[in-house]
Amino acid sequence: MRGENVIRVLIADEIARIVGDLEKLEPYTDVVDVCGVAHQPSAVIEEAWLRQPDVLVLHEGFAELPTADFAAHLGSVSPATRVLLMTAADALAVADSWTAAAVSESAGGAELLQAIRIAAGVLPPSGGRRDATQPDNTDAAVEPGQRGIRAPRGRATVVVTFSGKGGTGTSMVATNLAVTLADGAGGRAALVDVDLQFGDAAAMLHVENHLLSIADLAAHGDDIDTALLDDVLATGPAEVRILRAPSSPELGETVVAANLRSIMRATAKAHAFVVVDTPSHIDERVLEVFELADRVLLVTSYNLSAVRGTKATLLLLEALGVDPDRVGVVLNHTRPRTNYRREDIEEILGRTSLIDLPYDPRVDPSLDSGTPIVVAQPRSELARRLVALADLIAVPAAVEEVEGELPAPAPPVYRRRFSLGRR
Ligand SMILES: Nc1ncnc2c1ncn2[C@@H]1O[C@H](COP(=O)(O)OP(=O)(O)O)[C@@H](O)[C@H]1O
Ligand SMILES: [Mg+2]
Repeated sequence: MRGENVIRVLIADEIARIVGDLEKLEPYTDVVDVCGVAHQPSAVIEEAWLRQPDVLVLHEGFAELPTADFAAHLGSVSPATRVLLMTAADALAVADSWTAAAVSESAGGAELLQAIRIAAGVLPPSGGRRDATQPDNTDAAVEPGQRGIRAPRGRATVVVTFSGKGGTGTSMVATNLAVTLADGAGGRAALVDVDLQFGDAAAMLHVENHLLSIADLAAHGDDIDTALLDDVLATGPAEVRILRAPSSPELGETVVAANLRSIMRATAKAHAFVVVDTPSHIDERVLEVFELADRVLLVTSYNLSAVRGTKATLLLLEALGVDPDRVGVVLNHTRPRTNYRREDIEEILGRTSLIDLPYDPRVDPSLDSGTPIVVAQPRSELARRLVALADLIAVPAAVEEVEGELPAPAPPVYRRRFSLGRR
């Protein structure tokens, strides 16, 4: 349990810096609770109203209003909130009366914690002692039991795979899951490659010569009918349908978050399962697919940098209000030998993993040849575990509803999980 004197913090900044701040504050979760994040200037006041934080960590220039108006507005929606201004400069004089303290964006975790305490009024402005800030993760959250996640009837179960670091096996997991879930039935599963600049799922499924990509769907805005979708999707092993990433990075930039919403909606109506592969960074478009996900699988390899990225992502998802039951950690051995055991990684993460995937030297050739390991080596331990992971995700009721023919257009049933009233 968190102590009584935990300081509740809302962070308002660009998403990349928020992830960095969460990483810095991660050792101090027993004293600082990041209760929310605002990654768009227009959402700062709304989030402050929703979360009623003790401290708003605000990057200078991030709020939309003139500062005096902003301060008045903040005071009216969340009177107890004090502002910690994060600045690009090293000089940390508190320039404005509406801020309680300031800190450099390059500050380390201990310094950031101290500034939060000063802003909260727990420490005097001089800084005081740096006391009792040792990490104490003994109360780390225990993973809740795995519950079946059920998609609303009439549309696909949407599974998003993500890792904050490249090379952890995210695309390997996404492609193998999609092929397993497709199970040889056309229209059962689709893979959407949202790694818009450097997506390689098409090559991993041997459809890299298919000409049409997600950029061709984005060009149609909201107007995506099933015939158009059918044209743009490639067909790979086990009849999996693939919405490939554009062939060049510039084209990837033409796909914006609103496009992804329409694309996901259309794809989810036409399949029982949609697996989404993502890039190794978070932007508005990745947030959009997190929002639509029934399951988020965080793929982690056995090295500390990847594990730290996963920990920061778990904190981010929590701060965004994503139901922890929907988030699962997949441990993947990308090397034959590691210095860590599964328990070590789980201890750092503060939760158990869904599954542990073994190293298999045949992964590389399988990816290069465009034949996923579940097809190339179905008896391998890795393939068995990937199938077990697919079984964890498969939800028969949703399958019955949408298997076979594309269903008639129905009102979209997505819930805005990140919007007002989400928890
Ligand atoms: N279980 C595994 N066994 C052996 N090699 C693996 C395994 N998982 C991933 N790899 C290796 O890691 C590389 C990166 O995988 P990839 O799925 O492209 O990662 P990401 O999408 O996270 O960047 C692969 O090319 C492969 O060489
Ligand atoms: Mg990848």
